[in-house]
Amino acid sequence: MLANVTIAGVASSIPKKVVTNTELESLVETSDEWITKRTGIHARHIAVEETAVSMAADSATKALAMSGVSRDSVGLIVACTITGEDLTPSIASSVQKALDISTCAAFDVSAGCTGFIYALVTAASLMDTLDVETAIVVASEKMSNYTDWSDRSTCVLFGDGAGAVVLQRSDKPRVQFPILNAAPDTGDVIVLKKDARSTPFAPSDDTTKEYIRMKGADVFTYAVGVLEDTLKRLYALCGDKPYTKVIPHQANEKIIDYVMRTMSMSRDAFFLNIASYANTSSATIPIALCDAWEAGWLRRGDRVALAGFGSGLTSGGVVIDWDLPNKTE
Ligand code: ACO
Repeated sequence: MLANVTIAGVASSIPKKVVTNTELESLVETSDEWITKRTGIHARHIAVEETAVSMAADSATKALAMSGVSRDSVGLIVACTITGEDLTPSIASSVQKALDISTCAAFDVSAGCTGFIYALVTAASLMDTLDVETAIVVASEKMSNYTDWSDRSTCVLFGDGAGAVVLQRSDKPRVQFPILNAAPDTGDVIVLKKDARSTPFAPSDDTTKEYIRMKGADVFTYAVGVLEDTLKRLYALCGDKPYTKVIPHQANEKIIDYVMRTMSMSRDAFFLNIASYANTSSATIPIALCDAWEAGWLRRGDRVALAGFGSGLTSGGVVIDWDLPNKTE
């Protein structure tokens, strides 16, 4: 069971540098027209000075400040990433250090692009168990570190960024109906391997630099199937108060278009910001949540479904009853 919690703060941290599709034409044989038509992406933000840790800390700091909650009441930080600089300490521990929180539980989860959903559900599940008043959930990705900038089939798709939410106990459950799922990636459809290591006991002369690899068409087929399935299951779980808005993982606008059509849902019901950020993996959903609220698209009282899919092959979703004051209030 999830604890009765609400989202009390949301923020994102986006690198300053913008790289347009046209700029990528000088790196690989591609075109703005190809990228826009196949993906809906126009530009992405690329970290230059920012790191996965600095973006995570920045978004968490801003989310906590906007929630008005004291850092002393934070008892749990759950972070997710597939592109952190450090194997240890975790991003969550680095965020704890940056926020100067002397004691709390802190750890990372890894679930590919579904990471934020997994982290949110994990945090909301643990808040009762650990008797925690406030938790921070943060997703941060520096995809550019693991992008093969000579491979046109992947390098046009990704961007960097982070997003965070503050969860606080509430009178009613406002984060509900968790779905976490995974299917074995038997075809190695999305893979990011670690560079080989050499030890005196297992010497290796493999100097290959590893980057994110994927079989685009297979990812597309998987994504549309699980996105539709997750949204249908969430719809059924909502009972007589169905969600009216959807914030999906932003991997490719065509995936979202496809699911909108098969579910006969209106485009207005889906929030999309992939045009400006590309796919920031686990960070797409909290960044979109933040943008949707700041733009006035997400309003107090809305019931919104979050749905993701990613490497693993993972998928998942959750329903939020949005309770932050409207940006215009
Ligand atoms: N610019 C120009 N041409 C390109 C580019 C590019 N950037 N990339 C590929 N091409 C070429 C290919 O080489 C191929 O050329 P060929 O016919 O001469 O061999 C042609 O375009 C068609 O390639 P396809 O891979 O068949 O293109 P497709 O229409 O399938 O689109 C895409 C590729 C956009 C990657 C699509 O498959 C897709 O969106 N898949 C889902 C990917 C995704 O969501 N990834 C997220 C990763 S993890 C996650 O978030 C779940």
